[in-house]
Formats: sequence, structure tokens, C-alpha cells
Amino acid sequence: MMTPASDTVSYEIVGRTGLIELNNPPVNAASHHLRHGLMQAVRALGVADGVEVIAIYGATRAFIAGADIREFGKTPVEPILPAVCLAIEASDVPVVAIMHGATLGGGLEVALSAHARVALPDLVTGFPEVTLGVIPGAGGTQRAPRLIGVAATLDLATTGRRIMADEAMELGLIDRIVDGPARYAAIAAATEVLKGSLTTRRTGEQPVTPDPDVLAETTRNLAASQSHLFAPHRAAEAVGLSTGPLDKGLARERALFNECLASPQRAGLIHAFFAERAVAKIPEADATPRDIGSLGVVGGGTMGSGIATAGLLAGLPVTLAEQDDDALDRAFGTISRNLDGAVKRGKLGSEARDALLAEDLILTTDLADFARTDLIVEAVFEDMGVKQDIFRRLDAVCKPGAVLASNTSYLDINKLAAVTQRPGDVLGLHFFSPAHVMRLLEVVVADGTAAEVTATGFALARKLRKVAVRSGVCDGFIGNRILAHYRKAADYMVVDGASPQQVDRALETFGFAMGPFAVSDLAGLDIGWATRKRLAPTRDPAERYVAVADRICERGWFGRKTGQGFYLYGKERPVPNPEIARIIEDERTKASVTPRSFEDQEIVDRYMIAMISEAARVLGDGIAQRPIDIDAVFLFGYGFPRFRGGPMHYADTIGAAALIDRIEAYAAEDAFFWQVPPLLRHLASTGQTFADLNKGA
Ligand code: 3HC
Ligand code: NAI
Repeated sequence: MMTPASDTVSYEIVGRTGLIELNNPPVNAASHHLRHGLMQAVRALGVADGVEVIAIYGATRAFIAGADIREFGKTPVEPILPAVCLAIEASDVPVVAIMHGATLGGGLEVALSAHARVALPDLVTGFPEVTLGVIPGAGGTQRAPRLIGVAATLDLATTGRRIMADEAMELGLIDRIVDGPARYAAIAAATEVLKGSLTTRRTGEQPVTPDPDVLAETTRNLAASQSHLFAPHRAAEAVGLSTGPLDKGLARERALFNECLASPQRAGLIHAFFAERAVAKIPEADATPRDIGSLGVVGGGTMGSGIATAGLLAGLPVTLAEQDDDALDRAFGTISRNLDGAVKRGKLGSEARDALLAEDLILTTDLADFARTDLIVEAVFEDMGVKQDIFRRLDAVCKPGAVLASNTSYLDINKLAAVTQRPGDVLGLHFFSPAHVMRLLEVVVADGTAAEVTATGFALARKLRKVAVRSGVCDGFIGNRILAHYRKAADYMVVDGASPQQVDRALETFGFAMGPFAVSDLAGLDIGWATRKRLAPTRDPAERYVAVADRICERGWFGRKTGQGFYLYGKERPVPNPEIARIIEDERTKASVTPRSFEDQEIVDRYMIAMISEAARVLGDGIAQRPIDIDAVFLFGYGFPRFRGGPMHYADTIGAAALIDRIEAYAAEDAFFWQVPPLLRHLASTGQTFADLNKGA
């Protein structure tokens, strides 16, 4: 009979075995009820008559997925996990852990405290703590080296890499792999312990061989490649201490863990973890998505080929239409190269690549070939007339219930829906380049889009392993609308005295993967140029306009693809293009600007505050549902530093009142660009944060 030890833990005695079942759905996070129950159960079984072995297993799909990260930042509730681990390790009755499903972070630490470890084949284990801005804080950095050595522990603890049962076995992290339900495995493992065929020992009593060379090398590599991150360096330091006495190592590990817990990076990274999941909470979540068994793509350029590649990699048969055979050949070449890249990265075997190209990809010049396709993404030139023509033709040939999507970067989805007889089936699916790599997918919901069609967009994203974010219709949707605004702040700073390289460097030091001018070169300067030309007739004459990028484009320099842009390409690494300085100088003279110097911090402030301002307007206009959706857009589509959590999370670290002060100060020099968004005023006057607007997400 099961005896409850807490809401989430129960135990029973079967013969000479004490069984502990952990049941904290969905993933058995080690929240305080679970810790309390586990401690109680170990104590109770440790003194129970006739119990000679204890086995712990999970009743959910995981053993323990780790600490409950929702508790981070709150006052810790006893017993804390290190104490639970010490109690398990100290138990006179041997304890065996059945590791299955997610056994991560604190879950692995519980298992390491046991006296033997048996895994089921679905095991995923490791120390993902650094990806959340912390380090293993319940003995992982001290006990793992005693089983798998310093080098392997350094690898796991500083990278957050997750490993499967086979690798865990090879490393010596587990004693054996068995099949069957977790409860049966627990009974079987306990029987083996009783028979003596499964050896038990205390991990903390095992010796560790120092490995100063690997430690020094890891420390050096981290200093070079992860200088802006806080946790990985602490993880290495903690592992380094494992060669000393266990109690000292444990104490220092906990102190380092607490330092990480208090760091803003921990808050940013955990916000990013939840952002990835919160975006799925949409008003259409209850609608039943349509089945998507095939994908169509119109246009096989950069984006169309990338989208086709993403579909193929997700196992969807893809039909791709182009204007003529030459264009189809080019698309085939791009898709092949994309798949080659996946082979090189180890994501696909070369035979599978050949099979995808031969069997799952159909190339055509005839849109009638979409007659049986479930979902078609249009990715032709960014031109309303060309796109409307495609939508009219798709409407004529596609089966009832097919979903018609556009990958447009800026254009009005309502105007595309309007040329069809089925506006309910039309939506925007805005992929990011390269489409088979970038994780963001903006699902743009037009006025008439049916709820199930929006839900289908989200279901497709799941199939493609992308992060879908719901957006309303406006010029540029969430991401590009905000980008178009803050990008101007970078241009203004360049005319006012900063160089493009200084702006890029300042923002890369802040943590962006690439600065805005390097990104423009990569995306192609012609794209922004076309948008500026399209919007020129509607531009307000009061708006300050910087023509530097137009002058560059007029020379036929479109960035990386033409070898020249803000930087020169072709050498080992890009170098600043000397001609650009002259173009900037001319523009300064024309605008009668006397250049001044900029501190890097001012560059970051102006850029970020411009981003936050437009983001607040996007929220105020109802284009994004919640601040956390905007954070996800920037984290997964725009190279925003994950450890800063996203622009809205970052905004809260400054505060609405301080943001308003800065905007008003900047407005003294340009009152058109620097306007305080009404939502920011509302937050300041009510004492709220952007995080408050995420409630329920
Ligand atoms: N704490 C709290 N909630 C968690 C959680 C955790 N550690 N892990 C997952 N969840 C929640 C998710 O937020 C989600 O909630 P929702 O349904 O309300 O959105 C729910 O559990 C299910 O999670 P997923 O949607 O991610 O489910 P998957 O099946 O796709 O993935 C998983 C499961 C592999 C466990 C994945 O959730 C994951 O990687 N979790 C984080 C694991 C981790 O990093 N653990 C280490 C924590 S730090 C630590 O242990 C410190 C220690 O050393 C002291
Ligand atoms: P591209 O110029 O590389 O490709 C467009 C392709 O469409 C060309 O190959 C062209 O032959 C084909 N095409 C044109 N008319 C056609 C027709 N009637 N039938 C079949 N094919 C036709 O352009 P790119 O960069 O791939 O962009 C495509 C769309 O994706 C645009 O709407 C763009 O705004 C959007 N987009 C672009 C991103 C980027 O980074 N390049 C990112 C996200 C969206």
C-alpha cells in the first residue's frame, strides 16, 4: 500500500524493498513538496523494519527534470536540494535511482547521491544549469567527477550538453540500461542489489584524479568564447574544487550557485526559457488545427528554398513552384546545399539527403500542381501586385481547406486575403533567413483568418521545430516593424559621429550576435532600400532621413552578396569599407552636422531605448499579445542576447520612469523620432512593469 510522504511523493514496501514514487507532473520538477516528500520517504524507509534497499523512480515521463525553476529568485523553502542529496547519500540502506526521461540538473544530482544508477533507454541527462544562468547547486560538480572524471564533468557542466543513455553508460554515469516501465525497473534493480549483482557505493567516497591541464584549457577557452556569460566560468571553478575534500567542495559549489542565482543573467535566461513556451498560449489554442501532410512553396529564392528545406527536414513532402526551369535549377541547387549543411552538422545522413531530394521534393512551373497540397507558402518578390496575382491563382487551383500563407516581410496580409474567395484560409507565415535554421516563425493573423487556420500555423511551427509567435497585421508585423524603427537610431548615430564599426562593436559587446550594420550587409542592403523606396511617398517630411545606405546601394553594393557594403568581404574576415566613411562625411556635410564622439554605452542606450519604444507601441496597438511574445521574437529571430531575456525584460531592468526620462532628454534634439509611447506612460503612472502585463502567460 502506498503511503503519501507529501502531495507529490509516496512510498511503499514490497518484500525487502522500499519503493519511492515521485509524481509531480508534468516533468517531476524538484519543487518544495517533492523535496520534502523525498526526504521524508528516505528517512521513513531508512528505519522501516525489514527494508534492505530503497529504489526511487518517477511516475511521470521524467525521473526529475531538475530544480523547479519557478522557485528561483524566491525565498528558498527547506529542505533545499543539497540537503536531500546528502540524506540520500548518507542513508545506511542502499538507494538505487531509476533514471528515465528527463533526468536533468537537480534530477541528475539526486541520482548521483544514490548508491547505484539504472537507466531506461529514454534517458536524457546532463547539467543544463548554465543554459539557465546557474550551475549545478546540489553536488553535481563534486559528485560527477568522482564517477566520470574531471574532463567529462567539465564538458557537461560548462556546456549544458544533454546526453542519452548510451553515452551516459560509456562515461560511467550509470551502472546499466534496462527496459520496461520505471516501477518494474525499480523492483528489478532492488532485487539485483539484494542478490549482490548490482554493486552499491557512496559516490562522495570515491576518489577523483586531478586534471589540471584540462581544467586550465577549459578555463582559457571559456575566457575566450564566453566572456560575457557569468555561469560557465563558475561551473568550471566548482568542478576544479572536486579534487579536494567533499564538504568544502559542496559548500563552495553552493556559494557559487547562489551567486549565479542572484545574477541578472539568471533572470534573463529563465525568462527566455519561459518565453519559448509562453508564446504557444494563444486565443486560438483550443481550435483544432488542420492536418498538414504536404507543403507547397511558391518562389525558390533565398526564402522559398529555405522554407522548402525546413519542410523536407521535418519529413514533409514539398512541392516548389518557380517561374521557369532555370529558376528551378537554382532552387534545387540551394536546397541541396542546405541539406549538405545539415549532413555536415550531423543532423541528416547522406543517404537520407539523397532520398529527400529524389522522393520528397517536386519541382514545377505549374501552380496547378498544388491542387492536393495542404499548406502553401508564397515566397515570391516583395511586391503586392506579384503576390496578389499568385494568391488569385492559388485560390483557383487549391483544394477547399488548403491553407494559403505569405512569407511577406512587411506587406498587408488582408490585401492578399481580399483577392481570394477564402479569406478565412489566408494568413502570414513569416520565416527568418536562413529559414531552415532560424527558429522564429511569426504567424500573422489577418482580419478574416479562421481560428483553426491560425492554430494550423502553430502546429506547422511545432512540426518544423520552430518557435511560433502570434502577430497582428501592420507594416513589418512585430519584428520588422520594431527593427525599422531602432535601425534608424543606429543610422542617426552614424551621421552624428559614431562609425558603423563602433556601433556594431558596442552592440556586440552588449551581447548581440552581430551589430546592425553587419546584419544589413548579411541580409542584403537592397532589401531595406526597396522598403524605403516603397514607403517614400508616405514619409513625413518632419522625419529625419539618413541616405547613407541609399548612396551605398546606388553604387551597386548590396553587402555580402556583392562583396561590398558597410564592410568589404572576400578576405579572411570582413574589414570596414573605406568608401563608407566618405559617403557618411558627405551626408554630414549635406545635413550640416558637426560630428561628436559617442561612448559605447550611449550607443547601446539609444539603440535599446528606440527598440523598447517601438515595442511598447506594437503592444499598445495590440499587434503583439504580450511583452513576452516580443521578447521571443527578438530572441529567436534577431540574435538578441539570450542572457538579457529580450527587449521587454531588459526594459524592466531600467524601469518605465527612467525610460521616459531618457526619451524626453533625447526628444530635445529630435522630437519626431523620440516620442514617449502611451503604454510606457501608463506603466510609469501605475507603477507597473512589462512583466506585469505577462501575467497568465
Ligand atoms: N521547473 C519548472 N517547470 C518546468 C521545468 C523546471 N525545471 N522544466 C519544465 N517545466 C515546465 C515547462 O515550463 C512547461 O510548463 P507549461 O506546460 O506551463 O508551459 C512544462 O513543464 C512542460 O515542459 P516542456 O513544454 O518543455 O516539455 P518537453 O517535454 O518539451 O520538455 C524538458 C521537457 C526536457 C524537461 C524541458 O522542459 C526542459 O528542458 N526543462 C528544463 C530542464 C532543466 O534545465 N533542468 C535544470 C534546472 S536547474 C537545476 O536543476 C539546478 C540544480 O542544480 C539545483
Ligand atoms: P528572392 O528574390 O531571393 O526570391 C524570390 C523568388 O521568387 C525568385 O526566385 C523568383 O524567381 C520567384 N518568383 C517571382 N515571381 C514568381 C512567380 N510568379 N512564380 C513563381 N516564382 C516567382 O527573394 P527572397 O529573399 O527569397 O524573398 C521572398 C519573400 O520573402 C519576400 O516577400 C521577402 O520580403 C520575404 N522575406 C525575405 C527575407 C530575407 O531575409 N530575404 C526574410 C523573410 C521574408
